[in-house]
Amino acid sequence: MELERQIEEAATYIARARKLVAFSGAGVSAESGIPTFRDPGGLWDRFDPLELGGGDIFTSIFSGARVPQAAVDFVSEMVAVLERARPNPGHYALGELERMGILRTVITQNIDNLHREAGNTKVIEVHGNIFRMACMICGNRIMLEREELFAMGRELVEMLRAGNIQGIVRVASKCRCGGVCRPDVVGFGEPVQEMPRAISEAQSADVLLILGTSGMVYPAAYIPEYAKRAKARLVEINATGCYFQDLVEVGMVGKSGELLPRILERVKYLRSYSVF
Ligand code: OAD
Repeated sequence: MELERQIEEAATYIARARKLVAFSGAGVSAESGIPTFRDPGGLWDRFDPLELGGGDIFTSIFSGARVPQAAVDFVSEMVAVLERARPNPGHYALGELERMGILRTVITQNIDNLHREAGNTKVIEVHGNIFRMACMICGNRIMLEREELFAMGRELVEMLRAGNIQGIVRVASKCRCGGVCRPDVVGFGEPVQEMPRAISEAQSADVLLILGTSGMVYPAAYIPEYAKRAKARLVEINATGCYFQDLVEVGMVGKSGELLPRILERVKYLRSYSVF
């Protein structure tokens, strides 16, 4: 019953919103088969991020330095998992909220491109996007198609396993300048992307949806606080608990792929009858 009441409350805030912004984390993609980082059995439960080498891993790979076996296993798992992943009902509900003119921006920590695949067009990816390559020589950015990315990913994994540096360099030389490209994602110790734009979107929101994030990684985790200080109403959905309890008006414990479509249905209903 409590959950029903919370769904109604969240839907009412959203239906009335002039500018809804969503802030998402790995939990939103969990129902697409991508493991989260900090849940039991999650990526950081099985891999030590320090051992993976943060952003330096790319320099190591292309310079012929020894790549830790854990990093090869991590890349291999991510290529397989991301290749299978498709948007889930939570992503599609956000796409629909944008088409309805309610959701203006998605600020995400996810690199999986699933918000865009589900129809969101204004997506700020503060930790980058795995489909985008960055040339390590000239800085040029290249967006790859799904097929191209995963063909390259599979080939890279093979070369990494074989320790074939020349092969790796050949596969990754994607830039028009001939330079080697790395995925344009943020590793530990590297600066986040587009944070000023993300902050400004959060500050101009009147409702912020916080979805599937443990709020442990800064500066991204400051986003809800920026929105709150600018007087936004905050609604949180998380499968294991409320991590922004002190800030939110509504804190729902449940899966985003189940709750967002239910909230969307209520928003449609309220909009169709109301004065909002
Ligand atoms: P975490 O793994 O820290 O948190 C994911 C949250 O999603 C957890 O609190 C889960 O309870 C929740 N969750 C799991 N399944 C869910 C579901 N179906 N619906 C709703 N919630 C669900 O992931 P993030 O907070 O995104 O950074 O982690 C932030 C950053 O830490 C990542 O972007 C990554 C990582 O280090 C970089 O790689 C730079």
